[in-house]
Amino acid sequence: MTKANLNWVVLGPGAIGGLIAGALLEHGQSVSVLPRKNRTREINWQVTHKQFKADYSAPVITQLLAENTVFVIAVKAFDVIQALQRITTLRGFNKAMPIIISHNGMVELPEPLKELNLHPLVTTHGAVRSRNENADLCIEHRGAGRSWLEVDPAVRNQPTDFDPGLVLQQAFPPLTLEQDLSQRRWLKFVINCVINPLTAVHQCANGELLKGSWQAQVYSLVAEAVAVANSQNVSLTTEECYKEVLLVAKETALNHSSMLQDIQQQRRTEIQQLTGYLINAGKTAGVATPTHQQLLNEFQQRYSG
Ligand SMILES: NC(=O)c1ccc[n+]([C@@H]2O[C@H](COP(=O)([O-])OP(=O)(O)OC[C@H]3O[C@@H](n4cnc5c(N)ncnc54)[C@H](OP(=O)(O)O)[C@@H]3O)[C@@H](O)[C@H]2O)c1
Repeated sequence: MTKANLNWVVLGPGAIGGLIAGALLEHGQSVSVLPRKNRTREINWQVTHKQFKADYSAPVITQLLAENTVFVIAVKAFDVIQALQRITTLRGFNKAMPIIISHNGMVELPEPLKELNLHPLVTTHGAVRSRNENADLCIEHRGAGRSWLEVDPAVRNQPTDFDPGLVLQQAFPPLTLEQDLSQRRWLKFVINCVINPLTAVHQCANGELLKGSWQAQVYSLVAEAVAVANSQNVSLTTEECYKEVLLVAKETALNHSSMLQDIQQQRRTEIQQLTGYLINAGKTAGVATPTHQQLLNEFQQRYSG
């Protein structure tokens, strides 16, 4: 495989994007950055891992895209459509360019964007983005995790140099290539629809949800979300998802969920792409989601959003 043949363009970079961009640079890849606003010629950022720190720098993309461009879009769910629309307007863009896309929640894409060469990435890494006293971008890699990338079977089976999945597998391990991530994406979605809004409304660490007093609500939230997943032909069971929710709550017992962190830092949350999406998908499919509706009402009363 000729690794140098790929030209990676990473949006942001945010917490996850910066982590991936740093890993690609470590792996000798050519990486450019597409920030929201092109104010500088290059972007510098630091990633702090448990054992070491590393400084990275990548040019801001300004010219024609190279033919072998691969995009990495790791943005908040409410920015996904705009981010995709933006890259389709870049000079040299063509619809065959692979776009690795990672976000929590679910987003209904407009028809033209569904035709893009999208490769969903699910990751359990934990990273937090901040600025230091010099306003430099700092990314703290708080939890090493694993990732799964959906690879179109036609691309997967081609013995070609141009396979971003294989490069990413080496640069950002452990990463598993799968042909259909829908079940994994829905499992993560169900877990997020329980842990994020509950911990945000009650302003508690994830481990709180292990207490007996929460179990009836947690179980109902899981059962309703699984019924919606089943209505989308995703075969999950309430028991397996409930177990997973408890496992994540246990493994991240002391952590504040990303939604609670967003609330604490007065940032926009992904509640509409989580609970909002679930309730709407349930309505369309004729599946009742009263426990999620109640939780959304509490969230909106508390945070008016
Ligand atoms: N962080 C984690 O540990 C983690 C773990 C698993 C999953 N996730 C999920 O992964 C997604 C990304 O999370 P994150 O924490 O990496 O978010 P983040 O730190 O907010 O990063 C998003 C980045 O994308 C940029 N961006 C958004 N729209 C853009 C556009 N149109 N053009 C260029 N840049 C754009 C943002 O710029 P601005 O700063 O200007 O907005 C920001 O730099 C979310 O859905 C999150 O829930 C996160």
